[in-house]
Amino acid sequence: MGDRFKDKVVVVTGGSRGLGRAMSLGFAAEGARVVVSSRKQASCDEVVASIESAGGEALAFAAHTGRMEDLDALIEAVYARFGRVDILLNNAGTNIALGALSDIEPAAFDKMVDVNLKGPWYLASRLAPRMGEHGGGCVINVISVAALSTPAYSGMYAATKAGLKALTEVMAQEWAPLNIRVNALAPGSYHSDLTDGAIDVIPGYGEGMVNAALIPRIADTEEILNPVFYLASESYTTGITLVADGGLMAKR
Ligand SMILES: NC(=O)c1ccc[n+]([C@@H]2O[C@H](COP(=O)([O-])OP(=O)(O)OC[C@H]3O[C@@H](n4cnc5c(N)ncnc54)[C@H](OP(=O)(O)O)[C@@H]3O)[C@@H](O)[C@H]2O)c1
Repeated sequence: MGDRFKDKVVVVTGGSRGLGRAMSLGFAAEGARVVVSSRKQASCDEVVASIESAGGEALAFAAHTGRMEDLDALIEAVYARFGRVDILLNNAGTNIALGALSDIEPAAFDKMVDVNLKGPWYLASRLAPRMGEHGGGCVINVISVAALSTPAYSGMYAATKAGLKALTEVMAQEWAPLNIRVNALAPGSYHSDLTDGAIDVIPGYGEGMVNAALIPRIADTEEILNPVFYLASESYTTGITLVADGGLMAKR
């Protein structure tokens, strides 16, 4: 085990699969105490068991990011167990509203906003004053290159992620006096249930992703973890969006 984040308390939403799982295991392997949260308790328990069997410390707590009462309960559970939060990884996200704008139902729009935008805002904004009381920390909001160069048929996803980018910049300004740095991470495509599910159902999606990047492949979650470590560990970066996209934006 490393000690890059020794004893830091890290909260990971969507921490049971994909990038969130890689971050949960990765921060724990660097000495952090990790709170693994997603909708399904059993999935969080499984990640916590892996961390504990490697000698780490972690808490599993189920919370739906689109339900503010779940996020209140998450905050209380984290403070009851660890008494502080140093790093918030606002990672949970959904893309249930793929398709043409004219075909999207208001209920799907609401759910996209609740999970991708309202939840990350609520969790960070309720934690920030308490993080400030313990000397500060950092927040990383996981957005997407879709927020920066918005593709057709992914409008709700792009809009919610662009909204979270805007909130990242406001959070950075409002919480700098609390010694909290706030940045966004904008990945391109990496293998996860989200991506691989889209590859399975949308003809040409995977090929399109590969061809769109200068590095012509879909990344592994481990390759997205290093930029997260960078944002979590350095001390003079706030209010930015760090892009890790295999050159997708540059190729456009
Ligand atoms: N995959 C990519 O290529 C890619 C690219 C750019 C950005 N992103 C962004 O990266 C983040 C992680 O994506 P991923 O592809 O790694 O995810 P993933 O493999 O699909 O896993 C999603 C994780 O979030 C949890 N989750 C889903 N809905 C939730 C909700 N409403 N409340 C709480 N937890 C929820 C899931 O667990 P439960 O099912 O137990 O809730 C799971 O742990 C997302 O914000 C996504 O938009 C992904």
